[in-house]
Formats: sequence, structure tokens, C-alpha cells
Amino acid sequence: MNILVLGGGGREHAITWALAKSPQVDKLFVAPGNGGTARIARNIPQLRADDAQAVLGFARDRDIDLVVIGPEAPLVAGVADVLREAGIAVFGPDAQGARLEGSKTFSKEFMARHGIPTARYNSFTECEPALAYVRELGAPIVVKADGLAAGKGVVVADDVEDAEEAVRACFDGAFGGAGSTVLIEECMTGPECSLLAFVSAGKAHCMATAQDHKRAYDGDRGPNTGGMGVYSPVPIVTDEELAAMKEIMETAAAATAEEFEHDYRGVLYGGFMLTPEGPKVVEFNARFGDPETQVLLPRLESDVAEVMMAVAEGRPDDIDLAWSDKHAVCVVLASDGYPGSYEKGKVILGVDEAELMDDVIVLHAGTAVDDYDELVTAGGRVLNVVALGDTFEEARETAYLACDKVYFEGKQYRKDIGKRALQGRSAWK
Ligand code: AMP
Ligand code: GLY
Repeated sequence: MNILVLGGGGREHAITWALAKSPQVDKLFVAPGNGGTARIARNIPQLRADDAQAVLGFARDRDIDLVVIGPEAPLVAGVADVLREAGIAVFGPDAQGARLEGSKTFSKEFMARHGIPTARYNSFTECEPALAYVRELGAPIVVKADGLAAGKGVVVADDVEDAEEAVRACFDGAFGGAGSTVLIEECMTGPECSLLAFVSAGKAHCMATAQDHKRAYDGDRGPNTGGMGVYSPVPIVTDEELAAMKEIMETAAAATAEEFEHDYRGVLYGGFMLTPEGPKVVEFNARFGDPETQVLLPRLESDVAEVMMAVAEGRPDDIDLAWSDKHAVCVVLASDGYPGSYEKGKVILGVDEAELMDDVIVLHAGTAVDDYDELVTAGGRVLNVVALGDTFEEARETAYLACDKVYFEGKQYRKDIGKRALQGRSAWK
């Protein structure tokens, strides 16, 4: 089959890498792609992922059998709706399904209707009542812009003043239209854990657990980022917690079939907090996580092209997921200054040397190939260094040895990915 992947980050390189291994795949295109996808597929830099008509035109011209949508923006914009309407198989939900990520209020109301445990909340469209509610509940408290804000629309405030400031910033337009509705939530405590599922025809096939590291600096300090490192599976999760998370994903999948006009066909990402009362949903996303995908797909032994086609065609009973027993750890190499401003165009050396190591895969996020055919930095998160190991410790050690082999000016990365998990559950107390 011929496949088009939409997106150009580390997640899309991971998806493309997994698809390229499949004997089912003939031609593989990525739009726009990055320096890593260019080596294993054909990049289409001029094709805009959120321009549904352009994507449809390309898919028809190139006899594309399956379009895999990576990021949230084209999903929320309804690119899947247009392609499906035209008879092209799509991996990714339509616009209604994507509202589970695109509107936090919609998502919370969905959870409430189906008894899915989550933080208590209230949503507001005016500033004064929101401020009054913040004062009534007191700190710590969480303030969220309702719409898509590239992971930046959430403030976990330790005092009431910070929460009030966050409320005002939302209504003053800090997140554009995304902040015209604001959610105020009770603050939950505990380790975070994601559980993603392939969802089709109301059924959920859960993947393995993963844990992201959102803060920029060691010790979970500094600003929130898109994710600085991740590992899978998450050793601190108990069997009871895993069973509870799976049940929630199954409930949510069944609810999509019951409520939504069109079948939800794609990934449902469950972001959980393992609270003292059990796992509760922090958020749902309508797509693969970035960087979670970079540790999940290397552990998936099933043919991902077959799995994605079964999801896209509404054949959940044909999905059979087999996971490697190996542990995977991913460390993100970022540009100096990220998540603030940073320079681009720095020459990257040592990727081939790192990849020569056993059980190491280097997935590209913000890279490009320049006019001299050199690999250069082109984003904040530059590379995802992924290592597999028989034990968690071994995977961690290999990942960091591989990080040492890569060089670019301003390279920064966290040295403590997975450190707390090694210390056990008490590290979260
Ligand atoms: P979200 O975009 O909703 O996933 O939120 C981003 C991050 O904010 C999450 O990964 C959590 O670390 C934190 N967060 C969100 N909601 C809550 C909550 N109700 N209690 C505590 N932390 C939260
Ligand atoms: N890693 C978090 C996300 O993809 O939303």
C-alpha cells in the first residue's frame, strides 16, 4: 500500500520508521517531514498538513491508500472528514472526535456523562466569575485555556495570585480564541502516566504505559515544554492502576461509538494522574503523543501498517498487538534556549555513530538537510535518542551513552530522564 504521513516532528519520524519496516508498504510520503524522514521516505515540504483539499489532491494523484495524521491541528480542522468523504482510508478521528482534545470543556462533559474519573472543574466565559471561583476554591489550583494552545495553556498555580493572573491572561487573549473559555480545576497529585489506545468501532486496543518529562530542566524544574524525555513501560504503575486505566480507555472508546456521528478511528491518548484515589484523567488527546510514540512504536512487534489500516477501516477485531519485553528510554536533545527562543541551522554531527550502537535509534524532530547536504538543527527539540534494553537501567545507560556521541552547538538535554522511576514510587511523595 501507498501511505502519506502528515506532520514533521519526532512523532512522525517514529511513525514513518515503523511503517518503513512493514513489507505491506510500497510508497511512503511524509508532509512536510524532516531530516530524518527524508532518509526513509519521500518528504513533501510544500504540502500543508491542514489544507484538506491539497492533501486530498495529493492523495488522489499518488494513489494513496492510507493517510496517517500525526498532529492535532489537521484533526481539529477536519482534514480526516474531507478525506473519508472522498473514500480515502484515514488513521485519525474526524473533527467531532478530535474535540476530545480541541475543547477541554467538551472533553470534561464527555467524561462526566460516562463516569470517567477526572479533576472537579468549572468552566467560565467571563473573567469576574472565574476569579471569584478561584478565590472560593483556593490554591493550589489549575487554570486552563479551553482550546488548543500547543501545551502552553495550562497553569498549575501554587497561590491564588498566580491563578488570578493566569485567568486574566487567558481572557486578555494570551492564547487567542483558545482562551475565551477558561476551566478552573481542582489540583490532583501523584505521578503522571499515559496510556494510549488504538480506537476503532468503539473498541480500544491499549498500548503500553509511558511517562513523559514535561519540564525543561533536571529535577522537574523550569518551564513546561513539549516533552524532554520519556520511557516505556512505566515500572511504578501497579497492576490495579493499569487495570483501572484500561477500563477507562475502554469506556471512552465505547462512548465514542455511542455518541459520535462518525466512528472514531485513530489513537485516543489518555493522560492520567495516579492519585491516591486511583488513576484520574488529566486530558484526552486525539492522536499519538510526542515523544511517547518514540518509545512505544520501537516496542511494538506487530506490523503497524496492518494495525493502522484495520483502525482506519473499522476492523478492530483484526488488531493484535504484540509488545517487546524490552524497556525503551528516549532522551530529547534540544537547542540552547528552548522552550524560549533559539537559533537554527547548527550542523549536527555524530548521528550515524550513535545509530551504530546496538539497540539505539535516533529519531529526528527539528532537523533539516541544508543546501550542502549537511544535517542541521531546525527546531527547539532537535533529536530523540531512543535506546532499548533488557532492563530499565540498561536502556537508560545506553540512551545517555548515545547522547554523548551526538554534537551540535548549544545541545541541551535533561540528565535525569527516568531517574525518579528508578527510585520507586516514594520519589513522588
Ligand atoms: P494538560 O494540557 O491538560 O495535559 O495539562 C498539562 C499538564 O498540567 C499536565 O501534564 C499536568 O502535569 C498538569 N495538570 C493539568 N491538569 C492538572 C490537574 N487538575 N492537577 C494537577 N496537575 C494538572
Ligand atoms: N507528550 C504529550 C503530548 O503529546 O501531548
